[in-house]
Amino acid sequence: MKVILADYSGFCFGVKKAMDMVYDEIKEKGMEKELYSLGPLIHNQQVVEELENKGVKVEDDIEKIQKGSVIIRSHGVQKDVYSLAGEKSLDIVDATCPFVRRIQNIVENYHKDKYEIVIIGNPNHPEVIGINGWCNNQAFIIQEEEDVKKIPYSEKLCIVVQTTMSTPHFQKIAKLLEEKGNKIEIFNTICNATKERQDAARKLAKEVQAMIVVGGYHSSNTQKLVDICKEERPSTTYHVESVHELQDEWLIDIDVVGVTAGASTPQWIIDELLQKLNRI
Ligand code: F3S
Repeated sequence: MKVILADYSGFCFGVKKAMDMVYDEIKEKGMEKELYSLGPLIHNQQVVEELENKGVKVEDDIEKIQKGSVIIRSHGVQKDVYSLAGEKSLDIVDATCPFVRRIQNIVENYHKDKYEIVIIGNPNHPEVIGINGWCNNQAFIIQEEEDVKKIPYSEKLCIVVQTTMSTPHFQKIAKLLEEKGNKIEIFNTICNATKERQDAARKLAKEVQAMIVVGGYHSSNTQKLVDICKEERPSTTYHVESVHELQDEWLIDIDVVGVTAGASTPQWIIDELLQKLNRI
């Protein structure tokens, strides 16, 4: 069986930067200072466990952290988390991805300028929750085309999009939103890493008989890759978190299989999967 890895897959720039910052912090401070990650650093169980073994504790609520350093992960956080950390004299290791930081800045500035803010994205995703915190939690958050009717007409509207949204989906919703305001600013804030991975996954899915997507089950960008591959290969796209879930029967009668990986999937997990596939 021939195994082909997508042209772009695995750790994106923002996740790699976050991982490097955390490992530097561990090296510098060792166990002498308590180190907390505000939520799992990345949506990958194996990596979270490895970091826990090195002393990085996961805490979802900053109110529960009394001392030490707090890592802000690449998804970013609400603005008030910074002031809370300051009040508690916590050190901040800020690994907010620059692409997410850009959205936070847009939202903050346009909110100050009295624009209504629309975030196209998953309302439960930490990145979106964080962005909303830069406009006083007053954004309209919509995910599907039918949600557009919930948006009232506004004089000034500023539209941003979650970094991991697919471009065609964003374009469709943004087009509908053009009817919802007089002065409208639309920012395509989908990050390149996402688009590159999505385009490469679609291209590869068209060329192979089956696709294996490897990445955390809670990783939004991995899930998007699964959705895209399923559009091309509805019955032969499989999502695994690690090599252990790979089932041999998926590959019966398959001559060419494609592999892609979410932006939070470490290279060693991809390598293990490739090695196993190459043995089949
Ligand atoms: Fe940043 Fe894009 Fe990765 S927003 S964290 S480079 S998926």
